[in-house]
Amino acid sequence: MACCHHYFDPVEGGDRAFSVDVSAITFGRGCLAEAGEVARALGIRRIALMTDKALRALPFVAQVEQALAAAGVDTVVYDEVRVEPTDVSFQDAARFARESGVDGFISVGGGSVIDTAKAANLYATHPADFLTYVNAPIGAGQSVPGPLKPHIACPTTSGTGSECTGIAVFDLLAMKAKTGIVSRRLRPDRALIDPAVTASLPANVVAASGFDVLSHALESYTAQPYSHRSAPGDASQRPMSQGANPWSDLGCREALRLLGTYFARAVADASDTEAREQVLWAATLAGIAFGNAGCHAPHGMAYSVAGLVRDFQPEGYPDEAPLIPHGMSVIVNAPSVFRFTAPACPDRHLNASGWLGADMRGAGEGDAGEVLAGQIVALMKQTGMPNGLSGVGYGADDLGALTDGAFPQRRLLQNAPLEISRDCLTGLYRDALAYW
Ligand SMILES: NC(=O)c1ccc[n+]([C@@H]2O[C@H](COP(=O)([O-])OP(=O)(O)OC[C@H]3O[C@@H](n4cnc5c(N)ncnc54)[C@H](O)[C@@H]3O)[C@@H](O)[C@H]2O)c1
Ligand SMILES: [Fe+2]
Repeated sequence: MACCHHYFDPVEGGDRAFSVDVSAITFGRGCLAEAGEVARALGIRRIALMTDKALRALPFVAQVEQALAAAGVDTVVYDEVRVEPTDVSFQDAARFARESGVDGFISVGGGSVIDTAKAANLYATHPADFLTYVNAPIGAGQSVPGPLKPHIACPTTSGTGSECTGIAVFDLLAMKAKTGIVSRRLRPDRALIDPAVTASLPANVVAASGFDVLSHALESYTAQPYSHRSAPGDASQRPMSQGANPWSDLGCREALRLLGTYFARAVADASDTEAREQVLWAATLAGIAFGNAGCHAPHGMAYSVAGLVRDFQPEGYPDEAPLIPHGMSVIVNAPSVFRFTAPACPDRHLNASGWLGADMRGAGEGDAGEVLAGQIVALMKQTGMPNGLSGVGYGADDLGALTDGAFPQRRLLQNAPLEISRDCLTGLYRDALAYW
């Protein structure tokens, strides 16, 4: 067991360095009005504005269009983004991008929109069979051969942090599993993060996407230390999921502290602008952190929780098809996972519990998993989350299928601070069936 100070102590054969990659960001109320100038500065003349149907009707998309027009940037709008995108919806967006003759992208939306713009940019710039760039073993995992066109990301949920990451996540329909494309080249060139957009977010979207933030921060903070991952053959092979490191710790700590103070308030009251702004800032910090550390088991497990959905339809989301929002599919696993991982780094689990607002009186290292799981469960109850896997439609008969879907997610599972065997993964799902 290692205390926090020694978490990054070197081990034989482990990596000796960590890298920090971040998008350029602008954060503040009203900054969407800068979209036109930013596009011009990036040399964009004709831009694809990507959004979803519901967002198209909200004022901030029009605000971005006006800013682009004022700067003389020709704009073509694509509003067919699917909430919780799929391989089919990614390819549809890529087709649009290819045919529209644009030289840049601006995404205005949540993770679904930003990820779709990343994929459209990738396949329009470097056309290839769809599975070419998709993570192995599901896809060929080939590296992106060159730079993409400039992409400005304007997040409208306080959630994914996708504006700061080189990841695009989608549902591979044929496999009924989520997976992704990961490359530093996918990272947007600039993020315009305007807290004014959060006022119209439905409470359930603030809750689900806020738990995504919370788990990004918890997973990055408790990930295996970067120094315990095998050293890369050469610098270019150091993964973005490099493990916990001193840089990601900074963002995780502040994100968790902000969530402990503001998260429940932001869900409960759309007019609480202070709380909604602070949760958005937490999302940014956690995005920067996990983009350089990587998530682990709750996210790895979420891929099959979301992919195998049967009939769950949450409030606040489109009702065209059943879906389990990403943050929900993650958080239902989290208490079970952190009970399991606590012995690997109890002090980190305890620190996180304290930042999230748990009552730490009398808590010792042996209680770390229970204290953290208890605090997550308390926040889940407070914000109307489903009661574990049973709350989103799964039962004991589904444990095998859930395990089959998640076990190939090696990139994520190997970043956990303890080894996760197949049987162990099934046990984690079993312990996530219900919490109260
Ligand atoms: N690339 C990454 O690094 C990364 C990280 C985490 C999650 N993701 C992915 O992101 C997706 C989830 O994204 P999300 O949680 O941001 O939500 P989302 O983009 O799926 O949007 C959720 C809902 O909220 C609505 N909405 C968004 N902003 C709004 C606003 N300001 N006002 C009113 N309604 C608004 C949307 O129309 C949609 O119905 C998933 O596919 C997930 O896998 C990606
Ligand atoms: Fe996430």
